[in-house]
Amino acid sequence: MTSEQAIFCEGITKTYGEGEAAVKALRGIDLTADFGEIIALVGPSGCGKTTLISIFAAILSRSSGALRLAGVDPDAMTNQERTLFRREKVGFIFQQFNLVPQISVVENVAIPLLLRGENRNEALDRAEKLLTEVGLHNRAQSRPSKLSGGQQQRVAIARSLIHEPSILVCDEPTSALDGATGQRVMELIREQGRRPDRLVVLVTHDERIYHFADRIAHMDDGLITRIVSSDVELAALQAVAFEKGKAQ
Ligand SMILES: Nc1ncnc2c1ncn2[C@@H]1O[C@H](COP(=O)(O)OP(=O)(O)O)[C@@H](O)[C@H]1O
Ligand SMILES: [Mg+2]
Repeated sequence: MTSEQAIFCEGITKTYGEGEAAVKALRGIDLTADFGEIIALVGPSGCGKTTLISIFAAILSRSSGALRLAGVDPDAMTNQERTLFRREKVGFIFQQFNLVPQISVVENVAIPLLLRGENRNEALDRAEKLLTEVGLHNRAQSRPSKLSGGQQQRVAIARSLIHEPSILVCDEPTSALDGATGQRVMELIREQGRRPDRLVVLVTHDERIYHFADRIAHMDDGLITRIVSSDVELAALQAVAFEKGKAQ
């Protein structure tokens, strides 16, 4: 598994709709990523970030181009194989948290394990441990609707990690979190992303979390316009801040 590239994509396009209503969301994405990496995707609203990570999570099919996720092409699978692939290999944190309202927080976190038929008590035990790690142990028995947005986001994060996915995609994982909680959640995600058998791709607008990434991929209008190591990006941001400071 670790000898494979986590993501290989070349010339990926995605068009929504047809004819006059067609929207070209991705116009030729090339990207390779290795296990053990954390990649941040940044860019203006509507540039294709959610579309791209949905393709990386095997939730959405591309229109054209070559794609391998952990060495396999999700579009070459049957629907059933693809569902299994997602259950086993992929974790995702959506912008909307997609929690199940009728069941408790701890059951929500345990869903990925229950779906693959693991023992219920063991699954709930693991879910409780993860809830402790995200600081929500005391809310395990609550319904999701009783939690704040930031707390729900942490539940979604715990759920995305519980089955130890190879590929973790996160759509603005810290957007609903205050500074301190966001920091804690990012540390958890970084710890996960540093594992040699895991890739994390996260969409963010938050410059404060750039330093958690290894590389920053800038997107604009359906394309990746540049990819830089996060050290270089942060040095550039600091230089801009310094120049601004001098100008005042
Ligand atoms: N299901 C959809 N149907 C039609 N157009 C869509 C759909 N999802 C996204 N789009 C369009 O595709 C483009 C890229 O969207 P998206 O990937 O959500 O961008 P981002 O996450 O960077 O804001 C936008 O123009 C958006 O309006
Ligand atoms: Mg988006």
